[in-house]
Amino acid sequence: MHDLDQIRHQIESDLEARLQLASVHSSALVEAMKYSVCGTAKRVRAVLVCATTVGFGEDTYRALPPAAAIELIHAYSLVHDDLPDMDDSDTRRGKPSCHKHYGSTIAILAGDALQALAFSTILEAAQLTVQQRTDCAAVLANASGWRYMVGGQAMDMELMHGAIHDLDQLFTMHEGKTGALFRAALEMGAIVAGFSRDSEQFETMSKAGTKIGVAFQLTDDFLDATAEVEQLGKPAGADSLAGKKSAVAFLGTEETRNRAIQYLDEAVEILKSIDGDMTLVQRLAEECVHRQR
Ligand code: IPE
Ligand code: IPE
Ligand code: MG
Ligand code: MG
Ligand code: MG
Repeated sequence: MHDLDQIRHQIESDLEARLQLASVHSSALVEAMKYSVCGTAKRVRAVLVCATTVGFGEDTYRALPPAAAIELIHAYSLVHDDLPDMDDSDTRRGKPSCHKHYGSTIAILAGDALQALAFSTILEAAQLTVQQRTDCAAVLANASGWRYMVGGQAMDMELMHGAIHDLDQLFTMHEGKTGALFRAALEMGAIVAGFSRDSEQFETMSKAGTKIGVAFQLTDDFLDATAEVEQLGKPAGADSLAGKKSAVAFLGTEETRNRAIQYLDEAVEILKSIDGDMTLVQRLAEECVHRQR
């Protein structure tokens, strides 16, 4: 029997164990890495990896390395996202952001090191076959690199500085900076369950993952405009203050919410076509849109 809380708990213990790193060159670096990964994170991407594997009838244990890896990539992306040259955010997960606590130099390096750690976590995963390690690493590298996550982050920064913009661009940015990691979560879950990258199941999970990811970012933009700082654990109203071309700036709060629900519905429809029990993935997708933080 699996439920989402149980999976979340497994992920939390697994991450904690992986972060028992002895400092070799700099204790500040290692402390900053731990500081950035631990805390009140929702672990949505990691849980999605495991929930997908479970949905295809496999145990969560083999999904833990890619689940940890995606969370490490995500943590690195947040550390860099908060830097003064990016979103310049002073708080994250209810505490000072990494650079506020350790300074920008260590924060940049901690992000770099977390990224490398993510890939060694997958590539050294004894519970996966060599093919599964290669496939997961390729999926994660593709989703997190120039073409998607980092590309989307660059686009986010450029749009803020007044480049031409329209709704299509907004969704391209959302699919890049956020959607791609969600896609990778469902894809890696399928890989661990034994599906190849050219299988129909992989393709279907891939499509559902992107939809959930865009719904998640639309909700993030919505919450930025409507929720309180205490609730979010990070600055509220920051997008409009920074002149961000967020979904709310384009669509207003109500339509942003409608679109998030529309993307969720589309994801659920896709999940229903899967020959497996994607109840947990669906429940998590719903949480992504109906969350308070
Ligand atoms: C925040 O992600 C960054 C976005 C892509 C919107 P989360 O809302 O998943 O952050 P944590 O990990 O729970 O803190
Ligand atoms: C962050 O998007 C996306 C990535 C870090 C890839 P946001 O800038 O909207 O995330 P928050 O609101 O700071 O969590
Ligand atoms: Mg940002
Ligand atoms: Mg930000
Ligand atoms: Mg945001």
